[in-house]
Amino acid sequence: MSTGPTGAAVAADLTGDRPADDAADDLDVAAVKADFPLLATTKHDRPLVFLDSAASSQKPRAVLEAMDHYYEHDHTNVHRAAYDLAERATSAMEGARGKVARFIGAGSAEEVVFTKNATEAINLVARSWGAANLSPGDAVVLTQLEHHANIVPWQQLAAERGLELRWVPLTDDARLDLTGLDQLLDGAKLLGVTAMSNVVGTLPDVRALADAAHAAGALVCVDGCQSVPHLPTSVADLDADFVAFSGHKMCGPTGVGVLWARRELLEEMPPFLGGGGMILDVRLDGFVPADVPHRFEAGTPPIAEIVGLGAAVEYLEALGMDRVRRHEVAMNAYALRTLTERFGEEITIHGPAEPAARGGVMSFEFRGIHPHDLSQVLDQHGVCVRPGHHCAKPLMRVLGVGATARASWYVYNEEADVDALADALAEAGRFFDF
Ligand code: ALA
Repeated sequence: MSTGPTGAAVAADLTGDRPADDAADDLDVAAVKADFPLLATTKHDRPLVFLDSAASSQKPRAVLEAMDHYYEHDHTNVHRAAYDLAERATSAMEGARGKVARFIGAGSAEEVVFTKNATEAINLVARSWGAANLSPGDAVVLTQLEHHANIVPWQQLAAERGLELRWVPLTDDARLDLTGLDQLLDGAKLLGVTAMSNVVGTLPDVRALADAAHAAGALVCVDGCQSVPHLPTSVADLDADFVAFSGHKMCGPTGVGVLWARRELLEEMPPFLGGGGMILDVRLDGFVPADVPHRFEAGTPPIAEIVGLGAAVEYLEALGMDRVRRHEVAMNAYALRTLTERFGEEITIHGPAEPAARGGVMSFEFRGIHPHDLSQVLDQHGVCVRPGHHCAKPLMRVLGVGATARASWYVYNEEADVDALADALAEAGRFFDF
């Protein structure tokens, strides 16, 4: 295996060099796996080996049942009627808001805004806070690790407003190169940063970056799409201003995402979408927006999906996010060791070489085989990995590749899944040797 250099020249406290987690992996994966009906299915008559949770996780029975129960017993529209059923629907949705707030250590449930997904949450920040606070010539700092959801909304706003976008570069092993951070932040209004790369697994030290950004007078918008499902999250400890994440990558359903923001920021921000549900009053000559968070939730919300997300965070809390993280570090260590021992120089794994410096995601190049061809052969062996640019084309260019194959693990994956991946890679190697 080859990876880039360790990046030791970069300030270690800012680059994602989290302390090694030596505690034992004590997650009962067999019991967890039994909670996920889809994982009991087969693919091409082989057990399904699902290694694409970075794209979307599978769903435990508890989430499916919570959504079914909601539709069978509690459904009507929320925040509109006085009858008992409407109270039940509203309290199911607002109860889920409280669970999400607790899960991320928010100061109050009013700081949790439900959106369609993380992409919409970041667009909300750009279109509401950004449009109200950024002027021509203002700078927004992003990193070369970002995926499109944390790039394109800022590019759109930059084109409209004449903003300057600045980019934190990467080291050879895809950590943030922070040697020029002070200059990049000088005069900037916002730093946008992922807390865990969806491609290479890098874990920027968000707290240290937030401290640096705040010292420079900039706010911090964290893309938590990958980190919130996989790492213990406390928005207070991160000291971020905005954190966006999706439900479907953390055992919840598609169609619901979250924007967390500090309450005082939300209260100053104008609504993003207009319509029912987000107003206090409407007259022919104007409207008065509702209080936060409802002013950002125009129209009928995805109620059942929000209920499902509430069940998902309860499920993850019961597992324990520290335990989830220990399991993923152990999976990283096993995968790095196994793939190195079996394939040596035939495989290149992008990103940090230390298991504890990565999230549970591994992009790799194998024997020069195109990732799309590779994933098709792996699929014949029941192994699901994602090929492509992973919605991070600028990062692909920095890595010098057009695409990668990416394996990603979660609470239901075990060492046997890595063995199955390695076996399928060996088969693919034989297949493409002709
Ligand atoms: N950003 C998602 C992924 O990494 C879609 O696959």
